[in-house]
Amino acid sequence: MTEKIILHSPQSRLEGKVSLITGAASGLGESYARLFYKHGAKLILADIQDDLGLKLSHELGSQSSSFVHCDVTEENDVENAVNTAVSLYGKLDIMINNAGILGSLTTNIVQTEKSDFERILSTNLVGVFLGTKHAARVMIPNRSGVIISTGSVAGSLGGLGPYGYTCSKHALVGLTRNAAVELGEHGIRVNCVSPFIVTTPLLNTFFNVDDEGCEKILSDMNIDWMSPENVAQAVLFLASEDSKFVNGHNLMIDGGFMALQKI
Ligand SMILES: NC(=O)c1ccc[n+]([C@@H]2O[C@H](COP(=O)([O-])OP(=O)(O)OC[C@H]3O[C@@H](n4cnc5c(N)ncnc54)[C@H](O)[C@@H]3O)[C@@H](O)[C@H]2O)c1
Repeated sequence: MTEKIILHSPQSRLEGKVSLITGAASGLGESYARLFYKHGAKLILADIQDDLGLKLSHELGSQSSSFVHCDVTEENDVENAVNTAVSLYGKLDIMINNAGILGSLTTNIVQTEKSDFERILSTNLVGVFLGTKHAARVMIPNRSGVIISTGSVAGSLGGLGPYGYTCSKHALVGLTRNAAVELGEHGIRVNCVSPFIVTTPLLNTFFNVDDEGCEKILSDMNIDWMSPENVAQAVLFLASEDSKFVNGHNLMIDGGFMALQKI
């Protein structure tokens, strides 16, 4: 028997899908939201920056999106965001664990404060754990769903960021693989993306400059950078039926940066 082929127009690869995006108010999360919206998804935008999140939600329209205040380090907030998707739209199809911070900028272990290390892990790792856990809770009964987390090339190499950041992004890959094995049994795919350098407010904070200053620094360092849209396109692929058999994968979006490394 041949498999039924569902044809989607190029602009509606997520028609009928419901997606919750953490860290949706800015940078990569905002870009995922805009692209998912263009492809027909209904969105729950979750963030701690209420003003920016509400502004984006108003722009996309209340038919297609809602903002929820959600601190991913707080289990009640994550649980509430997932429950909001279910109460508004009846289900959750695509969970995007994207919220992340860099923390203090020191890469010197002696100067790294325990509290800062724990704060980064709490957002970048515990937040992803909670998002995966609560998404799984509502996806398992439906025997379907996609969970995608934003990792980093710092999740595969040392020396690219502060200790907390590097450790959280390495652990995120392990969490992704564990969840992919378990949840694959329930028809749920779990993947992550690992971008190299993307021009977002996070990077501006790192260099302590504005957008223009950031691009100048990267040019002077001869570093190829990406726009958030470049990453969003790859996330769209993982979120859509086009990647139906991709599970437990860490997709590098790095212009070949990792391939250059001597491992
Ligand atoms: N920009 C880069 O070069 C780059 C490269 C690789 C990976 N990443 C990853 O991409 C993700 C998004 O970062 P970005 O570059 O778009 O930065 P960003 O600062 O523009 O966006 C991060 C968003 O997460 C939100 N956030 C922070 N803490 C939160 C919390 N506790 N609960 C809920 N939301 C919270 C922020 O309010 C912000 O809207 C992060 O996980 C980051 O590690 C970024």
